[in-house]
Amino acid sequence: MTDPRAFVRELAAENAAFWRDRDVRLDPDAPPAVRLEQIRYRMRQGVYNELRSVELLAAWIPYTGEREIRDLLAGQLDDEHRHWQLLRARLITFGEDPDAYRPLPEWEQLFDWLIACRTRPTLERLAMFQFAGETQSCEGFETLIRLARDVDPETAEVYASAILPDEYRHAAIGRRALTLLADTPETQRIAREACQEMNGRIFAAYRAHRERVDRGARSDSVSNR
Ligand SMILES: [Fe+2]
Ligand SMILES: [Fe+2]
Repeated sequence: MTDPRAFVRELAAENAAFWRDRDVRLDPDAPPAVRLEQIRYRMRQGVYNELRSVELLAAWIPYTGEREIRDLLAGQLDDEHRHWQLLRARLITFGEDPDAYRPLPEWEQLFDWLIACRTRPTLERLAMFQFAGETQSCEGFETLIRLARDVDPETAEVYASAILPDEYRHAAIGRRALTLLADTPETQRIAREACQEMNGRIFAAYRAHRERVDRGARSDSVSNR
């Protein structure tokens, strides 16, 4: 059997390899106006995702018998609620109505599915959302911050100072859960499969997200001519 800590490192490396060049939501080479629109779209979708994360954690906590993990999930719920408020406030400063936005069906389905997974073992759930999902979120936020620095520095700062540090903690909850619970060949196999399942679903949502924003950005550039 692989030592749980070594297994967690190995699985993290596998996930990182899967994600190389796969977060297609933002295009680093796009002109500034297009990049800004991609960032705004991320924020509108982000409002929805943060609130669904609160709902997901509330649904999972009663099914999480491991006391240490349950406490960590309660803290995460509090963080995601704060992120929801921060992003809403930021969109309001741009004159947008954060509640008017209709979420992309792919994201809606992803969260519906995750919430329906509440009765699955803690190991599988945390491998999916905290370990695979939140680790990828940290990468995604780092890219967003880097690409927002010139076109919207205030938003970049909100993400860098008030969201990203929490997301690192959420990814660490995933590592902690796997270190505690993936301690046999069978549980390690289950954790690996859960990550693969989640990565595939997130990637599908990313692709749909980018297609949607490209369509929006194109119609904007046409109407601005
Ligand atoms: Fe968050
Ligand atoms: Fe998070």
